[in-house]
Amino acid sequence: MILEKFYENPETLHVGTEENRCFYMPLDLQEKENARNLSGIDWKFGYFPCVEAVPEFQRKDFDEEQFGRIEVPSCWQMLGFDQKQYTNVRYPFPFDPPYVPDNNPCGAYIKYFDISRSEAKEEQFLYFEGVDSCFYVWINGKFVGYSQVSHSPSEFNITGKTKTGMNKLAVLVLKWCDGSYLEDQDKFRMSGIFRDVHLIFRPKEYVRDFTVTTPVDFAGNTARVEVKLDSVVGEPQVICELWDKDTLLGECEAKDGSAAFSVKDPVLWNAEEPYQYTLKLRTPEEILVQKVGIRTISIKDGVVLINERPVKFKGVNRHDSSPYTGAVVSRVDAMFDLRIMKEANINAIRTSHYPNAPWFPQLCSEYGFYLIAEADMESHGGATVYGGSTEGTFSYFAEDPRFKASVMDRVQRNVIRDKNCSSVIFWSLGNESGYGTNFEEAGRWVKNYDPTRLLHYESVHFEPAGHKKDESMLDVESHMYASTQMIDEYFAQPGEKKPFVQCEFIHAMGNGPGDIEDYMQQIYKYDGFCGGFVWEWCDHATYEGRAENGKEMFHYGGDAGEFPHDGNFCMDGLVYPDRRPHEGLYEWKNAIRPIRAELTDRKKGIIRLHNKLDFRNLKDYIYLRYEIKKNGVLMEEGILDELEAEPHGFMDITLKLPAKTEERYYLKLTYYQKAKDKLTQVGHEMGFDQFALSEEKEKEPAFENKGEPLTLTETPEAFCLGNEFLHYEFGKKEGNFIKLERHGEALVTAPVEWNVYRAPTDNDRNIVNVWKEAGYDRSVVKVYGCEAKLRQGIVTITCDFSIAAVFIQPFLRLHAVWTVNGDGEIRVTVDGKRDTAFPFLPRFGLKFCIPEKQQEVAYFGYGPHESYCDKHQASYMDVFHTTVPELHRDYVRPQENGSHYNCFTVKVGNLTARGRKPFSFNASEYTIEELATKKHNYELEKAGCVVVCTDYKQSGVGSNSCGPQLLPQYRFDEEEFVWEMLYCFE
Ligand code: GAL
Repeated sequence: MILEKFYENPETLHVGTEENRCFYMPLDLQEKENARNLSGIDWKFGYFPCVEAVPEFQRKDFDEEQFGRIEVPSCWQMLGFDQKQYTNVRYPFPFDPPYVPDNNPCGAYIKYFDISRSEAKEEQFLYFEGVDSCFYVWINGKFVGYSQVSHSPSEFNITGKTKTGMNKLAVLVLKWCDGSYLEDQDKFRMSGIFRDVHLIFRPKEYVRDFTVTTPVDFAGNTARVEVKLDSVVGEPQVICELWDKDTLLGECEAKDGSAAFSVKDPVLWNAEEPYQYTLKLRTPEEILVQKVGIRTISIKDGVVLINERPVKFKGVNRHDSSPYTGAVVSRVDAMFDLRIMKEANINAIRTSHYPNAPWFPQLCSEYGFYLIAEADMESHGGATVYGGSTEGTFSYFAEDPRFKASVMDRVQRNVIRDKNCSSVIFWSLGNESGYGTNFEEAGRWVKNYDPTRLLHYESVHFEPAGHKKDESMLDVESHMYASTQMIDEYFAQPGEKKPFVQCEFIHAMGNGPGDIEDYMQQIYKYDGFCGGFVWEWCDHATYEGRAENGKEMFHYGGDAGEFPHDGNFCMDGLVYPDRRPHEGLYEWKNAIRPIRAELTDRKKGIIRLHNKLDFRNLKDYIYLRYEIKKNGVLMEEGILDELEAEPHGFMDITLKLPAKTEERYYLKLTYYQKAKDKLTQVGHEMGFDQFALSEEKEKEPAFENKGEPLTLTETPEAFCLGNEFLHYEFGKKEGNFIKLERHGEALVTAPVEWNVYRAPTDNDRNIVNVWKEAGYDRSVVKVYGCEAKLRQGIVTITCDFSIAAVFIQPFLRLHAVWTVNGDGEIRVTVDGKRDTAFPFLPRFGLKFCIPEKQQEVAYFGYGPHESYCDKHQASYMDVFHTTVPELHRDYVRPQENGSHYNCFTVKVGNLTARGRKPFSFNASEYTIEELATKKHNYELEKAGCVVVCTDYKQSGVGSNSCGPQLLPQYRFDEEEFVWEMLYCFE
């Protein structure tokens, strides 16, 4: 096939398309959609490696037998065609704009549709919600047009090209076009007609585009709903109606292209109570319906206000993505996302990095989410070209005049499509495309076109050489992954400041994120810090069926053999690809809970509840349940359901608290929803606070001289101690027990080991190289001296040793004292000295392998979720009962997981551990080596034992997979430490 090369010509972005308009489907006078969704399984399809290989399939005489069938919408890579590819920054083709490879894969689609006699009299349009990356359209063999911008609709007027009866629609989709340079988002690269296609019928005269605005007079308690007709075909009479549910509030005829309503005592829209009115535009033969949320957006003294009240955006970045269908997302899928987001207290979404499906912002308006609505624009790959840099080539498309129209087009399409959605608070010019003239102009256009919203663009921080940038049109200071220190510095600057937002932060890849609370503290501390958006909502992967062992297989970058790829960098969501929550979602949920409590007077039992909601009073919305536990046993509980506090206000409650004792008392307040919301139910748990009521003193684990007195013998390798029931051997080279037996049965299946390493988490991806340089992953013990003594039936072994790796000096020097009694209880006290020239340690502790069948676990510590020193927002202190398999967190790329922080005691099978100070533990069916080396969870092989790690300390997890380095307070970098533990086998 020979095509005109629009696809390599940034001067021709669209051919034969209609002007942009806001998204709607027109209704007939009976209020039925005057449109037909052409999506379905009856499209014919041919896949070709390049344009030249495509036959003239649009022609009438084409033999369609050669084509197969395809479902629309779909991404052809998900159906076995072409190559799956996940790449982040690097372009999947040579960087030679505006040219793309000659071997440009193509999908040829044929669809037949019927036009009735009455329909034939109407104007007919084809409306493509989204096609990746560009496409040519023919009707009955006649060329209709061409379009691009994958995540934006394209509409074609096909009147006059159709006939009554059967019509042939032919669409040729190309994988790449000049626009692909501007669609370099961090995602699986997918192609095809991936959103719905509609056949729309309209009268000769109609309203094509309109804008609704809702100014509010707060003093007078009235609002206006103003309608501006931006584009009208013909001169139809336009009657506007404003409805409040079933009540007609007003009706008027549009004059000079506009109409307005005054609404007394308006119910204002906000994400917590997303109330919407209904606007109808009636022309003699058609009705357009638009939901309207009345709300204002402003900035005062550097603070973002909605309806004149300060708000905090507790957001996530969301792609349209599914492991089963790629970029195709149904309303059911989207509703599923929105429901779990609501349940997790999330109130904002950034549509990273392109407009999501056109009905998505409408759902957000309906169900209450604030949006940063982002243009389909990312050209990050400019930074990775040969000799390229963030300073220079990153801004290539931001500056190149050939792409000025493209940048503007993308920005305009985003704004015009969604401009009537109350959910949209910010427009975003795109993501990671550098900065320059093209963005300045696009930004100015937005502010001029829609002064009612705020403008966002994070990539403004890059200034191309020789150009003094203008960022005056941007309303917020947006950053991604700014450190807490950088944020403090921003707010410490004198003078007026723009509101600060983190459009991406808390990188939720793998085991993490560990820095949530540190950021939340700042968000609440600084009025001007309007919030942040977690990167990101879900792991991206492709579902590849089940492995032989029955486990589901999710694949990430590289698994399809593609080049380039970015491995599992796409697996960085708060939920797994199939939307099962990661622990990170629970962490985020509780960090953004609607109430935060403070124990203000321990003696009098006064607790201050801070209402963290921006619009709702706690009254009639939230109740709380309190419980007081002593050593994990419930002592008292009750419900307080008469809460009342204004948004951002507080109330004090008083509870009778036990007097201070040595016992471990905890008070937990759990917040529940009192009234049903659109997406959440009465009784839904919204979050909790917990307070330790006793002093967290060190407790010496009781160690007595009990049991049958021990005997002590010695071999060149070991000290052997035992009695009638016990036989323990302490390895002189290992500095540890190499055998523990009772009644002739092994208590451990391998020698006990000193352990400093963990299976690197995704967030360890940088530090792991430093750890490996220090040899932490391959360290061995060197014993300098070891002595054993028997006194009154108790054996004491002292041992001086160090830990080091081949060719590297020791990083830890240790002195341990072990004491064993006749019951086989082992007490160990370790004095450690760390060489501070070495990096902080992943962990330090003792590792036991106990028999496989010992699966029962009980612990007193932070649970039930996996917890680390910087990741325990979702966990609370209690006694938990579980099993070894249940402790495992099945990250798609295996890594350290399932630890529990701040434990007083743990029992795994027969092994009980107690600490003088709280410690951490993991109990796993997998070895650290197995977790460290396997690429996918379904490849994991069990160790044949339970690996129990008890750690003096384990470093936090942080979010350094993309975020800042692990904060110093979460690193295990003590120079000297003392650790005391007691182990016994019951
Ligand atoms: C950001 C980018 C995101 C994503 C993230 C890393 O720089 O905007 O799209 O790539 O990094 O996961």
